Amino acid sequence: MKTRNALSRREFLAGSAGLAAGMPALNAAETQVPATVPITASRLALNGGPKAVTLAPKLGKRWGEPERERLNGLISQDTLFYWKGPQTTQFVERFKQICPLEYVMPCSSGTAALHIAVLAAGVGLGDEVITAPITDIGTVIGVLYQQGIPVFADLKSNSYNLDPTDVARRITPRTKAIIAVHLCGNPCQLRELRALSDQHGLVLIEDCAQAWGARYQGHPIGTIGHIACFSLQNSKHITCGDGGVVASSDKRFGPVLQKFGDKGYDRTHGGLFEVIAPNYRMTEAQAAIAGAQLDRLENIVRRRSELGNLMTQKLGGIRGIHPHAVDERDRCGYWFYFLRLDPRKLQCDRAEFVKALVAEGVEAGAGYIAVPLHRNPVFLKHGFFSGRWPVKEMGLTTMDYSKHETPEAEAILKTGVRLTIHEGMSEEYVLSAAEAVRKVAAHYAG
Ligand SMILES: Cc1ncc(COP(=O)(O)O)c(C=O)c1O
Repeated sequence: MKTRNALSRREFLAGSAGLAAGMPALNAAETQVPATVPITASRLALNGGPKAVTLAPKLGKRWGEPERERLNGLISQDTLFYWKGPQTTQFVERFKQICPLEYVMPCSSGTAALHIAVLAAGVGLGDEVITAPITDIGTVIGVLYQQGIPVFADLKSNSYNLDPTDVARRITPRTKAIIAVHLCGNPCQLRELRALSDQHGLVLIEDCAQAWGARYQGHPIGTIGHIACFSLQNSKHITCGDGGVVASSDKRFGPVLQKFGDKGYDRTHGGLFEVIAPNYRMTEAQAAIAGAQLDRLENIVRRRSELGNLMTQKLGGIRGIHPHAVDERDRCGYWFYFLRLDPRKLQCDRAEFVKALVAEGVEAGAGYIAVPLHRNPVFLKHGFFSGRWPVKEMGLTTMDYSKHETPEAEAILKTGVRLTIHEGMSEEYVLSAAEAVRKVAAHYAG
């Protein structure tokens, strides 16, 4: 008898490739897998069988000497303020090499970047902004603070990004902007969204918070829309704990990004205040770390992209499983990998499926955010500002989030399974994780 651990990689791959979906599970008395039995046909780890995954996916250190060096430099500076600060200046120059946009404003968070973007876009009282219902709430906080109306469009079933057809359907004379969220680092259908924006005179804002280093048909992410926003929060591909960047090459928006992140003060031209805005400035300490992190970005995203695509390749053809759909012309940075279960083809619920996957040794979780944004109590009660919503009370919108429907987004959140992908993982881990999905799906195949 040979355990799964004792199988060579060649044996393991050869065995798993031959799996017939629906193969019966081994009988309950067996605790080890004979060499001739592929891992996918063995008893579930949940039921005491061997684990499909025996490698621990270690992330490794995310910062080290390069960050320390920048921080040492910081200590000998005579300023820690962003404006003309050496760390911020270096960060901006490096950012422009990765995302070639003319005007770049580093700021305190992704939420801040998005708020600055909607300020620059001129979103105001009663203006509608179409965006995705599956995203971080930071995508729409700025819209709400500007007394704009987030309008949630539905998503494509397997890319989990805005469906341009549904976006078009929701455009009204009040629509001012579209915020395209590149969920999980998967580029949206930007050509279609940009065409809609141009046709209706809208501002296209790209929410690249999860999409550092992604590419849309060869273009760096953030360069197709009018304004790009990034997050440097701790969970992102690169980070300084908290931070963000907003950038644009558009002469209407780029030159005002700085003042909209700096209390309305135009530091290039000085003068009197013509607008007010929050203080969303980044500090030199954040810029120091973020600058060093930018040097790590390409390796991180290249690796995640390879591993995520490998996962997709290996999940192909499994009954009951829909892999994460990425256009082959794009580069997805897989902030995480999101597959969907087809409940009609599996005789278990999602919780059971995920429990079985985790027991197999896969880093997995059920869904992403609990419900589409507009199903949260604050939206259902329209209680954004101390329990009230002035624009609705003033009759400037008829929006009723309790009646707002995005059925595909609802379904995605009910059937999605999150798999961790990160740059510290080996191909072997990804191959065995895919085998685990195959094994669990085969077990529950209806
Ligand atoms: C898609 C998306 N948009 C916006 C944000 C907000 O970024 P931050 O947390 O830096 O404010 C996040 C962060 O989680 C995000 O994932």
